[in-house]
Amino acid sequence: MNDLPTPDYYSYPWFALEAVRKTALGGVIVAWSDGQQLECHPLWLRENAPGPDGIDPRSKENDLDVTDLDMSTTIGAASIDAGALVVEFIPENRGASFHPGWLRHVADGLHHPFALLPEPKPWNATDLREPPTHDGLSILENDDALAAWLHDLLEIGLTRLTCLPLQTETVELVGSRIGALRDSNFGPTWHVSVDFDPNSTANTNSRLPAHSDLPTREVPPGFQLLHCLKNDVGGGQSTMTDGLAVINYLQDHEPDVFQRLITLKWTFFNRDSNHDHRWTAPIIDTGDGRIPWTFRAFHPVRGFPAMDHNEIDDAYNSMRRLGQLANSDDFQIRYDLTPGDLIAFDNRRVLHGRESFDSQEGTRELRGTYLDADEVYSRMRVLRRALNPGEQSLGFGHSKEGEDA
Ligand code: OGA
Ligand code: ZN
Repeated sequence: MNDLPTPDYYSYPWFALEAVRKTALGGVIVAWSDGQQLECHPLWLRENAPGPDGIDPRSKENDLDVTDLDMSTTIGAASIDAGALVVEFIPENRGASFHPGWLRHVADGLHHPFALLPEPKPWNATDLREPPTHDGLSILENDDALAAWLHDLLEIGLTRLTCLPLQTETVELVGSRIGALRDSNFGPTWHVSVDFDPNSTANTNSRLPAHSDLPTREVPPGFQLLHCLKNDVGGGQSTMTDGLAVINYLQDHEPDVFQRLITLKWTFFNRDSNHDHRWTAPIIDTGDGRIPWTFRAFHPVRGFPAMDHNEIDDAYNSMRRLGQLANSDDFQIRYDLTPGDLIAFDNRRVLHGRESFDSQEGTRELRGTYLDADEVYSRMRVLRRALNPGEQSLGFGHSKEGEDA
């Protein structure tokens, strides 16, 4: 029994069931001895039955097309055998057994996208003085170190790696420890330095106030890595602001400003001779209401108001207020970038920036890349699974609410 297949790559502890009873909908409610319960709909359980026209053991995916699903399916006999759920689907007369640890992870809400990820902890300039710092070579070589780094990155939204090799490829090596790099019109990795003919304000010596990159895209990159290769200029200090902390402040103290920032829309526009990227969205994009929210804040690529004329004054005033807060000593931290450092941050949550610098005096050269948030989330879950097998069924995570399936 203990080796019952599950539709995934996890190995669940044997969380033996105590009882099962049938429901009026033709499904079952299973129960554990600690009182936890899970209601299982018959069609959902049928799709997840191991074997042909259910979970294919090769792919561990459901191979039953919904148009082939018998909509009259209900559960006939249901029992517990050595702690597992055993049912018979009628009218097929097909038997199936379900791993109780797998059912338990659904009951505990651990199948939700954010359940196995650290919860974001908002910070301001009093809570956090410097980016949480990790040794760069360790994360390249060791999965425990990689997991500890990604944990901080997801919780704080900002981290620093130190003592990395001063090579152009380093940022790609670090990013590839997480997953696929996200390409853009700037290439899979890109330079930040003073260009003779820049196609971005980033490649000048100008100050960059608190901002997020690529707000011109439908989904701006989730994470950004910036590796410092050279820095002997005067000025050019780095800045970081936690947008979550600013959101919390605005919601509590200036709800009108907050409301304008999440509703009034702008069209962002990233242009060069070969590209024309545009997207229309508010400055703080709450999307469909799930985290993470996305800041779209970068004046060089904010093109056109997409609102009524009589709202434009309000829109500018609310953006100005956001700028004041995001660049204030209350919310913004400031630190020096040393060659060999790599700063990683959540590009949609944490607003980054830099002071202007004197480019006559020396050289400042960074190499950057982006990753979609999905890559970081996936790597964190897989590392957690590999480093703590069975942990996912022990009841940690965001959601411990029981839930129907
Ligand atoms: C950028 C950027 C920061 C820096 O390239 O988008 O914000 O420190 N660079 O130069
Ligand atoms: Zn930037």
